[in-house]
Amino acid sequence: MSTPHVVVVMGVAGTGKTTVGPLLAAALGVPYAEGDDFHPPANIAKMSAGTPLDDDDRWPWLDAIGRWAHGRAGLGGVVSSSALKRAYRDRLRAAAPDAVFLHLTGERALIERRMADRKGHFMPTALLDSQFATLQPLGDDEAGVTVDVAGTPEEIAERGVAALGELDRPHEPELA
Ligand SMILES: Nc1ncnc2c1ncn2[C@@H]1O[C@H](COP(=O)(O)OP(=O)(O)OP(=O)(O)O)[C@@H](O)[C@H]1O
Ligand SMILES: [Mg+2]
Repeated sequence: MSTPHVVVVMGVAGTGKTTVGPLLAAALGVPYAEGDDFHPPANIAKMSAGTPLDDDDRWPWLDAIGRWAHGRAGLGGVVSSSALKRAYRDRLRAAAPDAVFLHLTGERALIERRMADRKGHFMPTALLDSQFATLQPLGDDEAGVTVDVAGTPEEIAERGVAALGELDRPHEPELA
């Protein structure tokens, strides 16, 4: 049995991090933590006032998520964090070197539709544009997997478990 993963579920707003994260955690038998819950009070005040966060606001938040992830090292866990920029993921990895990323991706039209149906949330299209503009997908040198968000949350979680399982497989030797 391999060491349980500490998984950061990442992706643009509306890809289903909060929906799929807990299902993935349940399937892996590990705890789930919601990334939004790690904001320091200053960030919450700013967001409540409708002021967008800048990167200086994000570092302490990412550090708090990183501390949680580090605390789950060897035990396993799932935490959500959009982690759109490589620099954000570098910051998370600095705290939790063993963390792996699960990038939820999907067609923009699908994500937009799901966002529009979301209760109690309002996200103008421009915000989704800026999310996609900011997104830096996982590099080849970053430990992680990419999972498409078509289908039901349960299907996506299953896909995630399978993709994470592949990370543990020793690489086949190259065929000549
Ligand atoms: N596979 C799915 N099928 C149908 N609806 C979904 C699916 N996944 C998520 N949704 C719905 O899409 C909306 C966005 O999902 P969710 O809130 O989980 O996204 P998020 O990535 O956590 O977004 P944010 O970055 O804003 O926190 C919600 O209303 C959710 O119920
Ligand atoms: Mg969310």
